[in-house]
Amino acid sequence: MAIVGFGNLGRGLARVLIEKSEFLRRTQGLIPRVVAVVDEHGAAVDEDGLDLRRLLRVAERKGTVAAHPKGKRGKSALEIIEGTEADVVFELTPTNIKTGEPGLTHIKKAMQAEKHVITSNKGPLVVAFKELDSLARRCGVEFRYSASVGGGVPVIGLAKGLLAGNEIRAIRGVLNGTTNYILTRMSKENAPFDVVLHEAQELGIAEKDPTLDIEGIDTACKITILANSLLGVNARLRDVRVAGIRNVRPEAIRLAREAGYVIKLVGVAKRDLLEVGPKLVPLGHPLAVGGTLNAVTFELDLAREITITGFGAGPQETSSSLLGDLIDIHRVLGG
Ligand code: HSE
Repeated sequence: MAIVGFGNLGRGLARVLIEKSEFLRRTQGLIPRVVAVVDEHGAAVDEDGLDLRRLLRVAERKGTVAAHPKGKRGKSALEIIEGTEADVVFELTPTNIKTGEPGLTHIKKAMQAEKHVITSNKGPLVVAFKELDSLARRCGVEFRYSASVGGGVPVIGLAKGLLAGNEIRAIRGVLNGTTNYILTRMSKENAPFDVVLHEAQELGIAEKDPTLDIEGIDTACKITILANSLLGVNARLRDVRVAGIRNVRPEAIRLAREAGYVIKLVGVAKRDLLEVGPKLVPLGHPLAVGGTLNAVTFELDLAREITITGFGAGPQETSSSLLGDLIDIHRVLGG
């Protein structure tokens, strides 16, 4: 495997691979070997497999994997993607919703080099979902992006797995941990917006640019990905009608509460409607989850309604989805 992007998520994945190595071998017959790791300063490469403990220590102390004995400053992600023997590329660079880059090019090049791709990066998926989906087919590689929606909550996996016999009529979700945390704290403790936004940033779940969370753009990205991957539509981010939580006043939250409701930032995906905005959710409804939690309700023809909830952000939680995708590819390939 090659890991492209070694920030919070890449490092979280490396930690989980260390902790789970014996478990993966025993339960899945899977022995993951990381042959290359790239960050913005350079790369470390060892075709025999990098020692991830040492790599993490170096990255944390020196700020780059290039300081590793097998490291090279200035080595680019594209050189690594095209030049190493990895079977699977984890594309974990930050989301860029305007161009999808650099993740978009990384993913395309990996596929063209006949490497399977696992990504958490929403940028390429909202800019070029259909293009990437068909490129993967043409190149004969597997493409997985479970970690892009719901963090550790297996939203896409559940829908594509045991719910695959259902027609999905609608998807409704609280899909952004940062705004959910802010709304919950404002509701319970009457805390001021900017203070709780700062707390959410300290928790490490907010986007690098937190306006993406606050303005509903992060939720809109996830709605776009769900619509493309589960509803079979060809949607772009601009097709989603979006309102954020900036104008949700403490007074509105209090009045809602007195009437038995909470205000949540809810994303909705239907074949003919994609939208994100603050909505009144009855207290006790499955979507009325608090704190940093995410929740997603599927409206289905057979099973009627299914809601799943869990932690939608964080390196360890998101590694659950990245690892799930890896195991899924291992199984599809007959491992
Ligand atoms: N900023 C996102 C959130 C991270 O708060 O949910 C997970 O996509």
